Amino acid sequence: MLSKTLNMTQTPQHPLDKTVAGTGPHHMHATVQVGLADRSYPIWIGEGLLGQPDIWRDALRAGRPGRVVVVSNEVVMPLYGQRVLDALGSLGCQTSQVVLPDGESHKDMASLMKIFDHLMSEHVDRSATVVALGGGVIGDMAGFAAACYQRGIDFVQVPTTLLSQVDSSVGGKTAINHPLGKNMIGAFYQPRAVIIDMTVLKTLPPREVSAGLAEIIKYGCILDADFFNWLEANMQALVAGDADALAYAIQKSCQIKAQVVAADERESSGQRALLNFGHTFGHAIEAGMGYGAWLHGEAVGCGMAMAALLSCQLGQLDVPSFKRVVALIDRAGLPLQPPAWPAQAYLDWMAHDKKSAAGAIRYILLKGLGQSELRPVEDALVRLAIEASQKG
Ligand code: NAD
Ligand code: GLY
Repeated sequence: MLSKTLNMTQTPQHPLDKTVAGTGPHHMHATVQVGLADRSYPIWIGEGLLGQPDIWRDALRAGRPGRVVVVSNEVVMPLYGQRVLDALGSLGCQTSQVVLPDGESHKDMASLMKIFDHLMSEHVDRSATVVALGGGVIGDMAGFAAACYQRGIDFVQVPTTLLSQVDSSVGGKTAINHPLGKNMIGAFYQPRAVIIDMTVLKTLPPREVSAGLAEIIKYGCILDADFFNWLEANMQALVAGDADALAYAIQKSCQIKAQVVAADERESSGQRALLNFGHTFGHAIEAGMGYGAWLHGEAVGCGMAMAALLSCQLGQLDVPSFKRVVALIDRAGLPLQPPAWPAQAYLDWMAHDKKSAAGAIRYILLKGLGQSELRPVEDALVRLAIEASQKG
């Protein structure tokens, strides 16, 4: 049974908040605010929002509805591009589009240059807005392009995967990959707004839903034991695509992420680094296997199980809690068996991790369910955890 307890801040700020579920083509579930002083922005969560001119009017800087460049890919643009272009067109915006090849293997300099080529050849000026329409790959790249072009132009995130709706579209981390490491070239650059239209999840393949669930589970593990319990009770509904369960999980995830980002936007105090639970091992798997072989969320899911085992072996997570973490990752449909590389290969990939300090790799470890910390661990102990994870 679904637990509907909404223990979170819902701020009904937008007129569409007044609409009632099921009575029209659009419905606003909730607005979550990311509080960053003069760079604060709303995350609008609802259904049918993509095609709503009112939403777009509010997302674009007042007095600048002029030029909008929609950056998407060859999968998402045919599905949802026209809705966005029509809504923007109805406001009198002059629109154009950049359609990039699909996939993590294209999160690179060549794709970034395609965006810049378009912006330059179309004489796009500083008053323009970039719209990122797609999953985390498009959001990270379009955001980075917006951060760099003429030293920064406005951008709006329109995440279309579960993973991007609960994580990558919020918080302003933008980047491309380098062959030697994930997200190594990028910038912190906040969007003006995040528009989450849950109806787009209906076309998302089940494997991508599971990938998104990995980042949702992450929030429960590191910061919120109640949310972890809720996820245990509702995982079946989430995997089945139940709209109410997904709405709650998306709202809760965005609220947790917004709080962390407001407290530590640039990952300087260590709080935001906690959001990298599972990512140290996960990024090694993604880069080592070749970008795209494992989905980001799959690598994070497996990486969380590895980090939980390391926490358990260090004596700071009890065995029953470790088993609950692994069971939840498994029920989300995520892989648990890491690649059978020598442990040293993991350490070599992880040496590029952005959390490393003074030559030491630092890990996000659990101190119980809903509690976590960032700390270095001796390589010999990490090797033991990797080898134990590989044995299953
Ligand atoms: P993705 O962007 O590759 O999207 C997954 C697949 O789903 C793609 O094939 C895409 O074309 C397709 N797709 C997207 N929306 C769809 C829809 N509605 N219907 C059908 N197909 C759809 O992958 P992702 O999981 O969204 O994002 C992963 C990326 O996000 C990684 O590069 C990761 O590093 C990044 N990330 C960034 C942050 C951050 O804070 N910036 C956080 C987490 C992850
Ligand atoms: N996804 C990790 C972060 O945004 O910090």
